[in-house]
Order: sequence, then C-alpha cells, then structure tokens
Amino acid sequence: MALQISPLFSYFRAVLRTTGPLSCVRADFQATGVKFKHILSVQSPRLGAKPATSPHRGHIRAAIRGEKFSTALWKLSKGNGSSSARGRKGWLGKVAVGAVFGLSTFALGQSLHTGAVNAMALRVNLNSAEGNWKEIKDLLLSLSVKDRRQYYNTSNFVPLDDIPGWTPTAGGSESPCRQRNEKLDLKLSLYSGDITKLEIDAIVNAANKTLLGGGGVDGAIHRVAGPMLKKECASLHGCETGEAKITCGYGLPAKYVIHTVGPIAQGGVGEEEKKALRLCYKNSLKTATDHAARTVAFPCISTGIYGYPPEQAVHEALATVREYLDAHHDKLDRVIFCVFLPTDKELYLQNLPLYFPADPTGPTLKSKL
Ligand code: APR
Repeated sequence: MALQISPLFSYFRAVLRTTGPLSCVRADFQATGVKFKHILSVQSPRLGAKPATSPHRGHIRAAIRGEKFSTALWKLSKGNGSSSARGRKGWLGKVAVGAVFGLSTFALGQSLHTGAVNAMALRVNLNSAEGNWKEIKDLLLSLSVKDRRQYYNTSNFVPLDDIPGWTPTAGGSESPCRQRNEKLDLKLSLYSGDITKLEIDAIVNAANKTLLGGGGVDGAIHRVAGPMLKKECASLHGCETGEAKITCGYGLPAKYVIHTVGPIAQGGVGEEEKKALRLCYKNSLKTATDHAARTVAFPCISTGIYGYPPEQAVHEALATVREYLDAHHDKLDRVIFCVFLPTDKELYLQNLPLYFPADPTGPTLKSKL
C-alpha cells in the first residue's frame, strides 16, 4: 500500500503559479518537489523484509527524507550568490515558504498513512473468509506485538516472559551424548500446553502435504488462526515431507506459522523416516532464521496421527535442534519444545540433559515447570 501525496503537491504548485515574484524559484522548486513527492511515498513492510525495528521506523525514514528535501531547497535559495540584499531577503522568504510546505506535507503524509492503516485495521475481521489475505498479512506484520493483540482469536495467551527457560540439569543414569556448550544454556524451554497460546515469533505446525488443515495440532492452529491462514496456505501449493513453509499467524498470538510435514511412520521407523523427521526440525529452524524469527516452538512432530514412536522421535528432535543451535545460536533467542501429553513431557525431561548437558556452576534459569 503506497501512499502518494500528488493531489496535495499539485495544489501547492497551483498556489506557486499565482505568485509572480516566486516564478524564478517555481521551476526549480517543482523539480525538487517532484523528487520530494516520490520520496515521501509511504509503503507498508512486507513479509521477509527486515522487520521494522520500531513502529516509528517509517516516520524516521520520512523525517530523513523531509530533511533532504529542505536541504535541497536551501541549496536552491543559495542560487549563484550574486543577489542583492533585497534579493537575499526575498530568497529567504521563499525558503521559509518551502520549509513550511515541506514540513506540513511531511506531517500530512504521515497522518494520511496512519489514518489509512487505522482505517484498514478497523475493517479487518479475522473470522471472516472475506478480505485480501495479502493486505491483512501486511497490516499484521507491520504492527508491534502490543498492537497485534487486538486481533488474537484466543484468550489467556502466554507471553514469552511467562515461558520458563529450561535449566540444564544433570542427566539420569545415562551419560550425555553431546559436549557441553554454555552458549546454549539460555536458549531452550520445555513447555507443557497448547502451542496456539504462545505469543512468540513462530510456532511450527505438524501439517499434511496439502497444507489445508487437518486434525491434531494442525486443526488447532487453523481454528485459532482463522480462514485467512487457509487462504494463504492455498497459495503455497502444498509442501513435501521434510520441507517447511512460512505464513502469517493471523488470529494466533504467534506472528508466523511454519508449516512442516513429518514422515508417516505407522509401518515402523527406518533411515528414511529418521532423515525426514530431522529435516522437519532443521528446515523449520532455517525458515525461522531466514525470516528473523528468533523464538520458535515445536510440537512433537509426527508422533500423533502419523504414528512415529515418541521415544524415538525425541532423539531426532533434540539431536537436530542441538546441531542447529551449535551453528546458529546467535540467530535464535529461544527454541521451545511444546509438549501436549504428560508422556511426552517425561520423555523430554529424561533426554534433554543428554543433548544439552548441565554445568553445575552454570547460570541458573528460572524453571517453573
Ligand atoms: N498444542 C501442542 N501440541 C499439540 C496440540 C496443541 N494444541 N494438539 C496436538 N498436539 C500434539 C499431539 O499430542 C502430538 O504429540 O502434537 C503432536 C503431533 O500430533 P498430530 O497433530 O497428530 O500431528 P502428526 O502426528 O504430525 O500428524 C500429522 O495429522 O493433524 C493431521 O493434518 C495433519 O495430516 C496431518 C497429520
């Protein structure tokens, strides 16, 4: 959505035409103004673009542009330096007019933009299948976490601060199968509960190849996200086993959903199924870091309807996440294993220390499991 200010600019040009003495400035001013008109077009960010570091990033950019404009105008007023004192006074008057124009246009441009975003925000209904998913996605991804809360389709969402870090604890009888890496101490959480409640950058969905929804965690995610999720998923034309594709979270507290398709293992687990499951975790983390998502939650992929034995899946999950964090720990703040069944919670408590061994003197993390 690009906001041009050309109507306003042509109005001002008309005003300029009526002021004879300004005519010498007019031509140059118009040239500068045309440049000004284009550099003040305001665009909303898109998925994949570097997320705005703050909701005012657009304003900062516009202010810099406004400043460039008034500098250009000032240069114009300097002219060839041969003007008389009266001429200089005239020139300064013109610069003042120009600066007022520049600043008032900038303010108007910004309020037009804000007004447009707010107007659009009022029109968004995430429970309706009407509407353009691309526009709604652009709007939601441009909002701060706080501003996005008005769209959540779930109550009692869980902010990241309420998700306890996992405290590396000494393993049970088994000895660790990985070296200690203290850089990973604050990077993990084991969370028991509903993944659709987590207010984090991305939740991973255990989807099927159509990406059009299903049962289990897939069904839960689509229910909370609302119909726009299915609309965007339909544009992705499916997903192969082990691949991962990202969409907006829409009505979910999570900003993004990363859809991955686990192996079907009802007939038992061979090398192919192991490899495919590891690819689900690896490609989901890569997709997250490619989109600057720094907090990611995984369900126990393939261990439900797809029949992968949980006591085997936990090793593929932990080994792959460990490997990815060793290589890219600077790109992730938290990887959350979201378990839904008490049996899965026990499995992770038992095996986490093997892949992320403790350090008795290491930092203590609040752990309210
Ligand atoms: N939050 C977190 N985890 C959940 C939730 C939830 N709301 N609901 C279910 N789970 C857990 C299950 O307990 C299981 O441990 O997610 C894990 C994965 O189970 P499934 O959702 O059945 O996924 P999967 O085994 O990968 O099968 C995928 O099932 O839902 C369909 O469309 C999906 O066809 C695909 C197949």
